[in-house]
Amino acid sequence: MNRFWSPVVHSLTPYVAGEQPVIDGLVKLNTNENPYGPSPRALAAISDAVTDTLRLYPEPTGSKLRKAIAASHDLDPGEVFVGNGSDEVLAHTFQALLKHDLPLLFPDVTYSFYPTYCGLYGIDFREIPLDEKMMVRTEAYRQPCGAIILPNPNAPTGTALRLAAIEALIAEHPDQVVVIDEAYVDFGGESAIPLVRKYPNLLVIQTFSKSRGLAGLRVGFAVGQRPLIDALERVKDSFNSYPLDRLTQAGAVAAWEDQDWFRKHCDLIVASRERVTVGLGELGFEVLPSSANFVFARHATRGGAEIAAELRKRAVLVRHFRKERIEDFLRITIGTDAECDKLLDALKQILV
Ligand SMILES: Cc1ncc(COP(=O)(O)O)c(C=O)c1O
Repeated sequence: MNRFWSPVVHSLTPYVAGEQPVIDGLVKLNTNENPYGPSPRALAAISDAVTDTLRLYPEPTGSKLRKAIAASHDLDPGEVFVGNGSDEVLAHTFQALLKHDLPLLFPDVTYSFYPTYCGLYGIDFREIPLDEKMMVRTEAYRQPCGAIILPNPNAPTGTALRLAAIEALIAEHPDQVVVIDEAYVDFGGESAIPLVRKYPNLLVIQTFSKSRGLAGLRVGFAVGQRPLIDALERVKDSFNSYPLDRLTQAGAVAAWEDQDWFRKHCDLIVASRERVTVGLGELGFEVLPSSANFVFARHATRGGAEIAAELRKRAVLVRHFRKERIEDFLRITIGTDAECDKLLDALKQILV
């Protein structure tokens, strides 16, 4: 509280990001980063961009990157919007497209930035409960609303809906924008991008932070028909004309073009996820079916907070949320095989 603050600042509930501690030998499985890092081609492109041209502003619309993304999906660059991480793309989307008289709908257990953006922009929202298996039930969204946002796969549960269910949801709400946040789609989900040409109310958002190993570069993008993209451009150009700097644009284009690196490392993560799922099951955990680069698991007898604290003592960091319905769960990012082994070994010690 401070007398100099604008009134809205008093009412904000800011998002709490996962910790980034510096601890020797830390096995960091708490923020869904990619253990393999970015394509070497992206790193080379970033180095090559470190020249005296940094005195010049970057190209404001990220046109090379938009062109590259659009070409992969047979779309026009005008149907792609890029921003400083998908968090910024989401923030602009909340402001540009999700603020209406009727409430915005999203799951009760989902990405915790959504209610934060609603607080920032004064958006009325309603949380729709997941079912008893912690799955999104699209039928529950059949109610009057201003717009809908869903991550698919959902976070922090990791569970995914089939594309047919997503398409039915979009078709059932022709007069509302439906945003599908696909931060984790490359680890086993089905993207809704092929539906963009068919549905003027669909916006799909993706990120370079997870499957392309570039969380530190901050690149996200949205794909949708032009009127939706134009709305995002209008907000962006009323906020920050240059969200992607020169190094970021160079690195992101090179990362996008290195499909082999991308596919190979996504496949490695999926294989490790299956191994971790089996290992956790053997230790008495219930693991939700994951299509993401993390698993969401709860132990039959021991609490989530307690296990997270014990893991931390052994320099293994996982994410625990003090939130109703999910406080028994741990969200565990899939690391390298060596990191996954350290996790499972530490759990064996804790659970004996
Ligand atoms: C569902 C979901 N959407 C979006 C993001 C934001 O990702 P970024 O801003 O790194 O692109 C995250 C990050 O963890 C996420 O879990």
